[in-house]
Amino acid sequence: MSHTSLLYPLLYCAFMSLGSVNGQLVAADVLASQYSLATSTSLAFPSATQSNSDTQSFLVSNWGLSKGRIQNGASDLQFVNDPFANDPAPGASSNPDVSGPVLQVTYPNGSYSHDTGGAQLYSLWNASDSSFLSMMVSYEIAFDSGFDWVQGGKLPGLRGGPNPDGCSGGSNATDGSDCFSTRLMWRKQGEGEIYAYIPTSNGICKENDIICNSDFGTSIDRGAFSFASGQWNRITLLVQLNNPVNVANGFVSLYYNDVHAISQDKLQLRSSDVVTAGGLYLSTFFGGSDYSWATPQTTHTYFRNFRLWGSSSPSNLTGSKVSAANKLSSVESRVRLLFLPWIPFAAVFCAAGVL
Ligand SMILES: *[C@@H]1O[C@H](CO)[C@@H](O)[C@H](O)[C@H]1NC(C)=O
Ligand SMILES: *[C@@H]1O[C@H](CO)[C@@H](O)[C@H](O)[C@H]1NC(C)=O
Ligand SMILES: *[C@@H]1O[C@H](CO)[C@@H](O)[C@H](O)[C@H]1NC(C)=O
Ligand SMILES: *[C@@H]1O[C@H](CO)[C@@H](O)[C@H](O)[C@H]1NC(C)=O
Repeated sequence: MSHTSLLYPLLYCAFMSLGSVNGQLVAADVLASQYSLATSTSLAFPSATQSNSDTQSFLVSNWGLSKGRIQNGASDLQFVNDPFANDPAPGASSNPDVSGPVLQVTYPNGSYSHDTGGAQLYSLWNASDSSFLSMMVSYEIAFDSGFDWVQGGKLPGLRGGPNPDGCSGGSNATDGSDCFSTRLMWRKQGEGEIYAYIPTSNGICKENDIICNSDFGTSIDRGAFSFASGQWNRITLLVQLNNPVNVANGFVSLYYNDVHAISQDKLQLRSSDVVTAGGLYLSTFFGGSDYSWATPQTTHTYFRNFRLWGSSSPSNLTGSKVSAANKLSSVESRVRLLFLPWIPFAAVFCAAGVL
């Protein structure tokens, strides 16, 4: 048998297994039932386009906003006609509402960070229900044709916990005691990733597909997929919180156009039972917190079909107990600082039989 006659069947097998394992289409509602997410909701859209001020009123009235307000960039939001009505996202999910207006976000020329462009709001699924320990969001996003990605920017995901202002915006790395966030980011050339503010427990920063930034968020599997501009893209993001809170068995998973793109287990998303999943974190802007991230022209994204699924069951995967090194409180570290220097002296005294 020649080498080439062996090669072809092998290549064929490799190709077929890639196709069946990685290329399989899974509609969002099928995924929801696979993960036993029994309750669901969707965010209301108006039936006609609206001015900016009517858009703001609509969002405040219908989207269950944290503190009853749009956090940033209210003037950059508007319900407009769908510019990509004829360019749907490929995949298997049904598009229940493809004819109505879509939500446009504007990023003004030169803008970067949530202070100068884009928009940020936290839509609580049910403000009087803190029992969600698993949540999944699905939405469609379109970028203007020829979108200049520059270095990157934030995209919507999920968040939770009683602190609605932490876990984003360059706030300190979280210890998981009052919030988590799992947004998406686009990076150079439209590369996608999950961008999380979660504790970096049990050495996850050393894993190949994780990039930790000591001050900000944690990038999970950068470049696992790439966004396309000038058409709709569908994102489905699942978060299952770790349980109990001192075991790193949390799980996040992402499907791009209904094809599996990212899964990451062994995460500690929270260190306290007060942190549960709250809802959609529509947070999007260029950057980054300096001008090198700024958009070189005014540009837009568009959103439609926000749907949420949830359950009161946390992750049931296995995970390790969070090692103590991650959990040093400031009191503990001060105590250690006070006593550690004396240990050599104590050892010498002991050896000399003084103690
Ligand atoms: C774990 O949870 C999944 C849903 O996320 C469920 O399908 C599975 O049956 C559960 N396994 C056990 C052992 O409970
Ligand atoms: C919100 O949650 C509360 C407590 O679980 C429940 O009684 C109520 O029906 C929920 N409201 C909606 C609109 O789902
Ligand atoms: C980050 O932590 C430092 C030191 O604990 C504190 O001084 C600073 O105010 C914190 N910054 C933010 C944005 O929370
Ligand atoms: C964007 O702003 C920069 C700096 O003000 C300016 O030089 C550039 O011409 C602007 N671009 C467009 C497309 O207006």
